[in-house]
Amino acid sequence: MDNILSFSLADFQYNDNPDVLAPPNDFEEWINHPKIKASFSFFEQQLLAAPRASTEILSNLDHKKRKVINLTSYNYLGLSSHPEVIQAACDAARQYGLGASGAPLLSGTFDLHVKFAKMLADFKQKEDCLLYSSGLGGNMGAIQGILRKGDVLVLDEKCHKSIVDGGTLSGAKMLFFEHNNIDSLVAMLEKNKGKRTLVAVEGVYSMDGDLVKLKEVVEVCDRYKAAIYIDEAHSTLMFGKNGRGVAEHFGLEHKVGVTFGTLSKSFGGVGGFICSNARLIRYLKCYSSPYHFSCAPSPIIIAGLIKAFEVATRDSSLRDKLWENTGYFKKQLLDLKLNLGGTESQVIPIIIGSSGEKLFQMAMELQKRGLFLQPVDFPAVPANARRFRISVSSQLTKEEIDEACNIIEDVIVKGLKN
Ligand SMILES: Cc1ncc(COP(=O)(O)O)c(C=O)c1O
Repeated sequence: MDNILSFSLADFQYNDNPDVLAPPNDFEEWINHPKIKASFSFFEQQLLAAPRASTEILSNLDHKKRKVINLTSYNYLGLSSHPEVIQAACDAARQYGLGASGAPLLSGTFDLHVKFAKMLADFKQKEDCLLYSSGLGGNMGAIQGILRKGDVLVLDEKCHKSIVDGGTLSGAKMLFFEHNNIDSLVAMLEKNKGKRTLVAVEGVYSMDGDLVKLKEVVEVCDRYKAAIYIDEAHSTLMFGKNGRGVAEHFGLEHKVGVTFGTLSKSFGGVGGFICSNARLIRYLKCYSSPYHFSCAPSPIIIAGLIKAFEVATRDSSLRDKLWENTGYFKKQLLDLKLNLGGTESQVIPIIIGSSGEKLFQMAMELQKRGLFLQPVDFPAVPANARRFRISVSSQLTKEEIDEACNIIEDVIVKGLKN
């Protein structure tokens, strides 16, 4: 393989190795190269405690335990280890045991599932809700269950892989419109007029932290009679006056046909859900495979999630703190003249540019200095916009943000000048 370092994960999807149980030969050569190996050591680092703003990891870099300021977890509201949440989960473990031990339709539905699904449907102002064991499975399963061959899925090019995979499974024609570009969306809808069409967008785009242009999307979808599917993975419990998400923020919840949320980020647990009209949910219970053919979420998790939901919605204090922290953090980063792209949320990219080598050198230094801030490389983001991506948490103290900014200044700002 000439110039082995110019390859990336984008290059090894195709596999012509005659041994079906082996990866492509050149993948092995690539991934064992010392520089690629070093960059992979940033993945799968072990957390030794809850993903709090301040936590401990076993670093893959030097195999040492290290106390870190955690800017990488999606525990935006700190709910994963909230004392009331932990108490609720412990109580549920004693009452219900570890797992649901069955698919929801046959033997896996508990009173907790019914209660939580109703809470979420009421919260999202929809008729009903379907719970899934994973967020990825929820997106994939909902889209696979809604669309068929002959239908059309028009999705923003920055939509999460779970939406893309759902489209592939469904057999529908898939068309990607340019990110947040309404002319590009119109062009695709125009070419497919009269077909059953679902338009998929995200409330907050996860790599850039910008928001969907929902008002424009709604206008266009009304005109072309296309339904809207919104993924609020990074916005539920945070955006909108009541924390219902970006659709609430724009006052357009009634225009959204299906709203998706994950239970692994602001909720602090694991799982996913969709809310929509009762007839569609009834139908998807029979045709959405990750619901119909998979074990229901653990009752321990659901009990914890019910409490997390209650804590997050009983007043606005957690999201107020999140936005206070986000504003404070962003101002300091802008004062450092860093390129934060078009972020409008608690997801803050620091765009480094095209040098993967620089990105990983900085990542190494950041971690040695006690900052858990992961590099994001191509193909997850464009090759000229490699970055770090900060997930702000309501748990961060001002002192931790100041300390993080000092380290970022020493490592990233100085590194960018060299
Ligand atoms: C926008 C978006 N949708 C869906 C998912 C999948 O959620 P989960 O990680 O809970 O499976 C993610 C995960 O990162 C995401 O960012």
